[in-house]
Amino acid sequence: MPIAKIAPSMLSSDFANLASEADRMIQCGADWLHMDIMANIFSKFYWVLVLVPLQDGAYLDCHLMVTNPLDYVEPLGKAGASGFTFHVEASKDNWQELVQQIKSRGMKPGVALKPGTPVEEVYPLLDGENPVEMVLVMTVEPGFGGQKFMPETMEKVRDLRKKYPSLDIEVDGGLGPSTIDAAASAGANCIVAGSSVFGAPEPAQVISLMRKSVEV
Ligand code: DX5
Ligand code: ZN
Repeated sequence: MPIAKIAPSMLSSDFANLASEADRMIQCGADWLHMDIMANIFSKFYWVLVLVPLQDGAYLDCHLMVTNPLDYVEPLGKAGASGFTFHVEASKDNWQELVQQIKSRGMKPGVALKPGTPVEEVYPLLDGENPVEMVLVMTVEPGFGGQKFMPETMEKVRDLRKKYPSLDIEVDGGLGPSTIDAAASAGANCIVAGSSVFGAPEPAQVISLMRKSVEV
């Protein structure tokens, strides 16, 4: 299993203090900062979470829940994004160009899939010449934090882990102390967590607990 990455979702942070919230998460042991960027059909809300000036070296794991991800490659690249994960549902026709542009801007390309999307849809993006480097399996419907983890999505994580032993597999939605074992044992190694981390009295403990579950 590739190494654990714990990624607090900044969607659950105090937006008025985004930079200090990001700092706090890094102090608490976060590996990545998960940034949700959503618009149009992926969410009831039109909401673009703009990247803020952050401390050097923070890994910004950007999750694009938008219908036109190609339009975001240049601005996110310039803003300092590290990972650029687009949705397979939004990029059926142009994912090759998208992956190429993401890489040419020095970002790590990833593909996400909604709970109802079959895992087979991402195989062409992993098996071709210019593959994505991460798959994000959504464990809730895209839209907002604080939703209930959908255990049935773990079948996709298991299938992916079996087929791609060294792939970064990220899970996003409803992850916390009570659901981490299901995700980790299915084979997820990158863990996004919003409400469970920001809502905890001791976020560092939650981050450390989740890391241990992945590393077992
Ligand atoms: C949902 C977002 C998630 C969300 C997770 O559309 O992609 O990243 O912030 O929040 P929790 O961990 O509270 O489910
Ligand atoms: Zn997300």
